[in-house]
Amino acid sequence: MTDIHPLAIGAFTASNNLLLAPMAGITDSPFRVLCLKGGAGVVCAEMVSAHALHYGNEKSGRMLRINPKEHPVSMQIFGSDETTIAQAAKNAEAQGADIVDLNAGCPVKKINKAGAGCVLMKDEAKLGRLVEAAVKSVKIPVTLKTRIALNHKELLGARLAKLAENAGASAVVLHARAAVDVHSGPPNIDALAEACAAVKIPVIGNGGVVNADIARQFFQAGCAGVMIGRGAVGNPFIFRDIIDVFNGKTPSSQTPHARLGIYLDLVRENVSYYGERIGVNRSRKTAGYWIKDFPNAAEVRSRFVRLDTLADIEDLFSKTLARLDA
Ligand SMILES: Cc1cc2nc3c(=O)[nH]c(=O)nc-3n(C[C@H](O)[C@H](O)[C@H](O)COP(=O)(O)O)c2cc1C
Repeated sequence: MTDIHPLAIGAFTASNNLLLAPMAGITDSPFRVLCLKGGAGVVCAEMVSAHALHYGNEKSGRMLRINPKEHPVSMQIFGSDETTIAQAAKNAEAQGADIVDLNAGCPVKKINKAGAGCVLMKDEAKLGRLVEAAVKSVKIPVTLKTRIALNHKELLGARLAKLAENAGASAVVLHARAAVDVHSGPPNIDALAEACAAVKIPVIGNGGVVNADIARQFFQAGCAGVMIGRGAVGNPFIFRDIIDVFNGKTPSSQTPHARLGIYLDLVRENVSYYGERIGVNRSRKTAGYWIKDFPNAAEVRSRFVRLDTLADIEDLFSKTLARLDA
């Protein structure tokens, strides 16, 4: 099927096959709530360290907390050891996660030094054991998020997808870029097609999806689902926009009014979740994504980053919209 449809991941079925990618520092609970409002079929949480959870780290424990408004949600864990991965998967399940995802694609040095993330792509036996350990420890579906390659010399996507399938994973997410490219460059859609042909479990393609045309190319390559990262930052309604295009409608979230309205919703979610000071602070961090192509963007942004209260932000946004109307 080359379009939007419900997506079965093991025993769990999402209402559609567009997923929010895990992004550390961005896909926290308020953002996930907004992406679900914006049409995402599943939202993924920022990665949490299995090791830190094992040693009772409070911040990592808090990161597993799930708001009742944010289902279906996938909790992502990272680690390098079967016992802590099994325990972390159990913790995620106990917190109410619908899916637990294992990270084997992160190229960040600190994570790799600890034997986790994309270095696991070099040790397939170990990676298989980690997936199996997670699968055996929980009843919810386990997925593996990895990449199509470490470098430009060798494609690993099909092999890793097979590895995930053999280890009992219910789906595999493939970032269609090599680890050496981190997050830049076009997605390698041929590599996705090769992986899709190699397995029966759903392959969820990721990397560079910012509109319906690119999503369509992923589906045509055989992907059962599409995962969107940065395309959703500043536009958590991208999922609905893509669904609209597939249904022959004009996307509705792109007008300045709609975008500012959605941004204000996020600010409010942040304030209600973190309290006013931290909530406003977090909202300011992604301001650039939201108002980058906005008329008077520089001016609105420079005023916004100096505001400290929700009331001031509401006032700035309503004046900005009034000026646009005039
Ligand atoms: C700021 C940021 C944080 C990220 N954090 C994670 C993470 O915690 N876990 C993960 O598997 N991938 C992480 N990624 C990678 C994304 O999930 C995704 O694979 C990548 O951004 C490519 O998708 P995109 O081109 O749609 O953004 C992160 C990416 C960004 C930009």
